[in-house]
Amino acid sequence: MVRTERLSPDRAGIARAAALLRAGHLVAFATETVYGLGADATNEAAVAALFAAKGRPLFNPLICHYASAEAAFSDVIAGPLAERLARQFWPGPLTLVLARCRPTRVASAVSANLPTLAVRVPAPSAARALLDAVQVPIAAPSANLSGQVSPTTAEHVLSELDGRIAALLDAGSTTVGVESSVVDLTGEKPVLLRPGGLTTEALAAAVGPLEAPVPGGAPRAPGMLASHYAPRLPLRLEARHVRSDEALLAFGAPLAGAARTFNLSHRRDLTEAAARLFAGLRFLDSEGRRLGLARIAVMPVPEEGLGRAIVDRLVRAAAPRQADLA
Ligand code: TXA
Ligand code: MG
Repeated sequence: MVRTERLSPDRAGIARAAALLRAGHLVAFATETVYGLGADATNEAAVAALFAAKGRPLFNPLICHYASAEAAFSDVIAGPLAERLARQFWPGPLTLVLARCRPTRVASAVSANLPTLAVRVPAPSAARALLDAVQVPIAAPSANLSGQVSPTTAEHVLSELDGRIAALLDAGSTTVGVESSVVDLTGEKPVLLRPGGLTTEALAAAVGPLEAPVPGGAPRAPGMLASHYAPRLPLRLEARHVRSDEALLAFGAPLAGAARTFNLSHRRDLTEAAARLFAGLRFLDSEGRRLGLARIAVMPVPEEGLGRAIVDRLVRAAAPRQADLA
């Protein structure tokens, strides 16, 4: 058990966070998508401690965060398409999976011994100041215990990791609210491994239609097995009515009759809904369990724009539970 320091994202806080990271400690910080749990990606022991703190299986690789595309592309082999996507969308909620340079300073455990590495440049100024200050890539999965919903506030992080990590840089709520879109550029055509905070429409406009991973094939993003991001109460999707023993995750005008309601967006705004999704799931899960409710009913969300990432996370949260992965 360590005391988790709560730091402000000012100069002193960022300097302290950078010093802790350089000394091999774990520090949670906000990106535009969700909070990440950071470790020095070049430090084998720090990376091992990161997997342990989350209870994450070692076969599920981590995303490496960088201050710039130039820094990111010093650890992977980036072709013209990667360069173009980076110019267009970084800093931002896009992760690129590319072949690792050999040798690279990044610990092999970061990519779970795969020959590839996932890299991204996050947008918030505090995250970039931290990356500038540490001068090493930061490996950072979402800052939740393995199998839980990703955190979008400092409180979410502390509710699961207080006492297990050295520090938390508290930058308030994250803005995008769903994790980055993950695109694999190691094959002939780009493959969308995870729909996320950069819309599929924006990606397709830049690179043409994206392939989806082969259904039934080995999962190419090992963290993307069916059951993931799961609250403890079961979910019922596409709800068009609601019962008094259910909590309701609403979108638009809410259905009447639920024991508790959390509205993702009264005005059916998908950007607002994405930003509120994980807080809503956490709220209804804890209220629902406190009140002894049967499940969370979820109103339909359109599968367009950020709605694709929202529906992806909801479908995973509703899937039968397997060994959870991250
Ligand atoms: O928005 C985000 O991406 C957040 C913030 C903190 O950056 N991070 C995040 O990390 O969501 P995590 O570890 O919870 O999810 C990373 C996903 C997992 O599904 C993992 O399997 C996949 O990316 N991934 C990582 N490295 C990979 C690789 N080399 N090849 C294929 N998939 C990879
Ligand atoms: Mg995660």
